[in-house]
Amino acid sequence: MFTASSLNGNKAEQYAQLAEQARALLAGERDRVANAANLSALVYHALPDLNWVGFYFYDGRELVVGPFQGLPACVRIPLDRGVCGAAARSGQTQRVEDVHAVPDHIACDAASRSELVVPLFAPDASGNDALLGVFDLDSPVPARFDVEDQRGLESIAREFVASLDSANGNG
Ligand code: SME
Repeated sequence: MFTASSLNGNKAEQYAQLAEQARALLAGERDRVANAANLSALVYHALPDLNWVGFYFYDGRELVVGPFQGLPACVRIPLDRGVCGAAARSGQTQRVEDVHAVPDHIACDAASRSELVVPLFAPDASGNDALLGVFDLDSPVPARFDVEDQRGLESIAREFVASLDSANGNG
């Protein structure tokens, strides 16, 4: 059984511990849904002030909701819509301090005030980076995510992408 231990130290140290827990949790399993589900649960319960943590996967046309923790969410997001679409389209993490100031924000949970969306890319069969989806975190607290949170959560997202790779010793 996986036991999550509480995080200690400064923010960078806490994210290093969380990335280590993520690596242990996903080790030896390559199933995308299984790993997205467990990682959402790990992060949702480990970090304070979050109301939604989860995944949208790209189906070749738009983003489709995957495993998450939080209230039921919008099912499909076109790439030209919302903060998730912007992350997927640009390949850049989107850190939104006040979602009310972003006209394009899609409100799935009215409680959300700030948001961080990390795009996920993985090599396709030809070795080219292909859009896999996004890792989305919402908070009821304005400006919940700073640059350190961004770096930390980008490294957690990398653990997820790495877990799907057979060359990584998984499966
Ligand atoms: N707020 C997102 C939509 C997804 S939900 O927050 C879960 C957006 O604007 O893309």
